[in-house]
Amino acid sequence: MNIYYSLLIVGLLGFSISVQAKDQRIDPTIEHGATVFNQRCTLCHGNVGMGDGLLSRLVPDYPNTNLRNHTEGKDPDSIREAIIYGGQKGILDERMPPYGDELTWLEIESLVVFMRLFYRDAERAIAVLGSTHIPKKPSREIGRAIYKGRCILCHGPEGDGKGKMAKIIKNPPPFNFQYSRLPDAMMLDIIRTGGEAVGRSPKMPPFGEELSESDIKSLILYVKGFRE
Ligand code: HEC
Ligand code: HEC
Repeated sequence: MNIYYSLLIVGLLGFSISVQAKDQRIDPTIEHGATVFNQRCTLCHGNVGMGDGLLSRLVPDYPNTNLRNHTEGKDPDSIREAIIYGGQKGILDERMPPYGDELTWLEIESLVVFMRLFYRDAERAIAVLGSTHIPKKPSREIGRAIYKGRCILCHGPEGDGKGKMAKIIKNPPPFNFQYSRLPDAMMLDIIRTGGEAVGRSPKMPPFGEELSESDIKSLILYVKGFRE
């Protein structure tokens, strides 16, 4: 085949792919924002945004993360800035992580519409949050999403116990899942009731009040994937 002809085909293909991508772009929704909030923001801001997340309760002198007492703007631009840059611009506390590189455009814009509803009518926003907790069949995909929001800061992206929080959690450090051999039933227990209740470190928090059994089973599927 002639080289120019091949280039033309490649060009046309690229064109049709970009047209398709544009057509598939869905509008941001409050429901999608609530789902992302559930997965990514509750560790610090709490299940209903009131600042009672596990991390804020566990770490001494953690800044107040109650979003009802927000200090920065409620307008879409300020919310978007907070999510994209976190504390990097020196306006918010540096412990608010930047999500610009981690979340897609659709996820960020959906969070913005969700947060606007939260500031306007917190009761309704909380009701939407609740409705996104529909029980699903356990899966590694769900496990991965929950892991990113609730476990990664300690156990790390590779499950090797080298998350960002690991610097301050020692003796024992967050477990390296590559070496984990716990049977499923015992994993379920430690995730549900926390380390202390099963005679292990209290620094492994209990998740039983915030995660359903199905969520925990999804996590177990995902975490076992790190094993060697
Ligand atoms: C690791 C903990 C942590 C996580 C996870 C986190 N935040 Fe924050 N967030 C903070 C802290 C700390 C602050 C700063 C509080 C302050 O400066 O008073 C903050 C502040 C904010 C603010 C500004 C509030 C104000 O005072 O106006 C918004 C909006 C916000 N976060 C949204 C989110 C969203 C949306 C997510 C999930 C994508 C998220 N946060 C995840 C810790 C976190
Ligand atoms: C605040 C830090 C922290 C967070 C967040 C955290 N963990 Fe842990 N985790 C630990 C520590 C520390 C240990 C080690 C406990 C010990 O060895 O006594 C541990 C141990 C474990 C173990 C035991 C592994 C084994 O084989 O013995 C499992 C399973 C586990 N964590 C799952 C999770 C899951 C799933 C999440 C998220 C839902 C999570 N952890 C969130 C700190 C954390």
